[in-house]
Amino acid sequence: MRARNNGNIKLVAGNSNRALAEAIGAYLETPLTKAIVRRFADMEVFVEIEENVRGRDVFVLQSTSFPANDHLMELLIIIDALRRASASRITAVMPYFGYARQDRKVGPRTPISAKLVANLIAHAGANRVLTLDLHAGQIQGFFDIPTDNLYASPLMVRDIKERFDLRSLTVVSPDVGGVARARGLAKRIDAPLAIIDKRRERPNESEVMNVIGEVTGQTCILVDDIVDSGGTLVNAAEALIEKGAKDVYAYISHGVLSGGAVARITASKLKELVITDSIQPTEAVRVARNMRVLSVASLIGEAIGRTSSEESVSSLFD
Ligand code: R5P
Repeated sequence: MRARNNGNIKLVAGNSNRALAEAIGAYLETPLTKAIVRRFADMEVFVEIEENVRGRDVFVLQSTSFPANDHLMELLIIIDALRRASASRITAVMPYFGYARQDRKVGPRTPISAKLVANLIAHAGANRVLTLDLHAGQIQGFFDIPTDNLYASPLMVRDIKERFDLRSLTVVSPDVGGVARARGLAKRIDAPLAIIDKRRERPNESEVMNVIGEVTGQTCILVDDIVDSGGTLVNAAEALIEKGAKDVYAYISHGVLSGGAVARITASKLKELVITDSIQPTEAVRVARNMRVLSVASLIGEAIGRTSSEESVSSLFD
């Protein structure tokens, strides 16, 4: 069997998700490069790479998750340090790319922050980007450097096949914007698709949740890229149960889970929320009665190995 590290790979981790970084290192049989990533008293970020990286193929492991701005700044400064240390190639590995939801002007005089963040990463000195389940595929075009967008769906499909009777499953998109993503997963398990259509009929009236598709007596699997406040998910689960669904589960790539999201989901009608470790799960997530985490460590590790050896990454998803 070929070695997973071709001998040239270096892995440098920020502080956003050390557990995932260690697991990626274990997959690649490569210890994390010794580096100091710390704060000065005024909270400025300071970085020192403690090993020689001259001429090496360096992968910086950092999700721009909460606290998003600190973690983004760590990523930029690590990249700068590596560039000045003569790394031959630097890949920003962002299992979760924060700011992705700000991908268009939502009104006059508003920013496109996802584009700004992409510019910052490239200008800091990254030569490539490796990420997972981007909020919108087109965000790849915000980067003027090669960008690989991995998918957690094969992991989810494997888990679903192991746990459910596929004959009574319906995959559900919690909103119209997520239909392509949900349809992709439904196809892989040969299940029907339903869609939740949220509509505010008149101003100042609450939203009506219409379910398009048959869910009566079905086990429903909600599919989305991000769970943040949990509002979308909890409302969708309620609408499905109201329409006669037997049980509702959710498979969501990025567990942002801000504020009271964990408590909201724990208290909801959702049987189980399955997320990945693209964002480091908090203690509350780890002990929650209806949450489970699938690891993307081997998927990302494999993609890093293939990138370094100039092998196909897309064939991981054939
Ligand atoms: C929106 O377009 C995303 O795909 C998610 O549906 C959204 O970010 C979920 O947010 P929340 O959990 O706060 O409802």
